[in-house]
Amino acid sequence: MSIIRSSFRALRVRSEGGHQASFEHIGLDALSAGEVVIRVAYSGINYKDALAVTGKGRILRGSPRTPGIDLSGVVVQSGDSRYPVGAKVLVTGCNIGEQLDGGYSEYARLPAEAIVPLPQGLSLAEAMAIGTAGFTAALALRRMLENHQAPAMGSILVSGPTGGVGSIAIALLKREGFHVTALTGKPEAGKDYLTALGADSILDRNHQVMGSKPLETALWGGAIDNLGGPTLNWLTRTVKPWGNIASIGLAQAHTLETTVMPFILRGVSILGIHSVECPRPWRLALWEKLRAEWKPAGLMEHIVSRTVSLDELPAACAQIVAGQVTGRTLVRVAGD
Ligand SMILES: NC(=O)c1ccc[n+]([C@@H]2O[C@H](COP(=O)([O-])OP(=O)(O)OC[C@H]3O[C@@H](n4cnc5c(N)ncnc54)[C@H](OP(=O)(O)O)[C@@H]3O)[C@@H](O)[C@H]2O)c1
Repeated sequence: MSIIRSSFRALRVRSEGGHQASFEHIGLDALSAGEVVIRVAYSGINYKDALAVTGKGRILRGSPRTPGIDLSGVVVQSGDSRYPVGAKVLVTGCNIGEQLDGGYSEYARLPAEAIVPLPQGLSLAEAMAIGTAGFTAALALRRMLENHQAPAMGSILVSGPTGGVGSIAIALLKREGFHVTALTGKPEAGKDYLTALGADSILDRNHQVMGSKPLETALWGGAIDNLGGPTLNWLTRTVKPWGNIASIGLAQAHTLETTVMPFILRGVSILGIHSVECPRPWRLALWEKLRAEWKPAGLMEHIVSRTVSLDELPAACAQIVAGQVTGRTLVRVAGD
């Protein structure tokens, strides 16, 4: 029987009178409601977490709130028989670290519906190395395959490839036999990293000519886009007939300007990817894939570029917002 400490450490973000993020000692009652209490082992830093902690984006709803959209850990108190005390679990998305208190805390109290049993074959650390980033990459690939994307259609362009989503997207695409083109803003610093992940060719985003015609020469079998804005505009104009573009992120801009030409003359599809409220049956099925045939190659050795403590978290978030980080950042809370 685990004993829950009456006072524990959590990162709390307050918005009254300006953004302020600091560590506080709190009790369970301070956390948002839920049936299951988890001793947090690991979390990770996603782009959205970095925005929430630094205050560069309005991610958190409510104040004070604990950020961290991902966590893994061990159940220490439960009002749901599916998750008994001692069970190892993970949570990604489901509004934690946004509307609900999240993973940057020694304990989390969450609704049972958000919880996924830790799949056999994944450790608590590996689950967070994958995290929302890897889960989202898997959701994108699943939707593309369901919409008939196939390697013979041509290379898949991945934008923001040195980031968390992009890195794992490359690893998964290679597992499915695709040729991958990485469009990066770090062509020199990221070259060895991307090549080791399996990228077949690397393009420099800073020097990529994107043209402006409604349809440019068709180059890509499909795309996984983390940037939005001008990059997504260009992708709609350069994806080959029947190709799919998985629209995941807005690291460049939230805008999309294009015409109907790619859709009505090339049959191109844009697939919306929304990992936070992904239907639960899809969520469970994707974690089943990620523990086995889609477990990313080189996950802990290559894709995780660093492991930080709670104390190191705020500085690590600032580096992510500044675009200085490659791969995934793991956050060790209690550890295994
Ligand atoms: N739809 C969903 O459910 C979902 C889930 C997860 C993430 N996302 C979104 O997907 C995007 C990627 O997330 P992530 O966790 O992979 O982030 P990340 O680890 O910070 O990586 C983002 C990558 O995008 C590129 N980048 C960063 N800032 C940029 C800028 N200002 N202009 C152009 N490129 C820039 C960089 O790659 P290069 O240097 O290699 O170009 C960077 O490594 C974010 O917008 C995030 O909010 C959405």
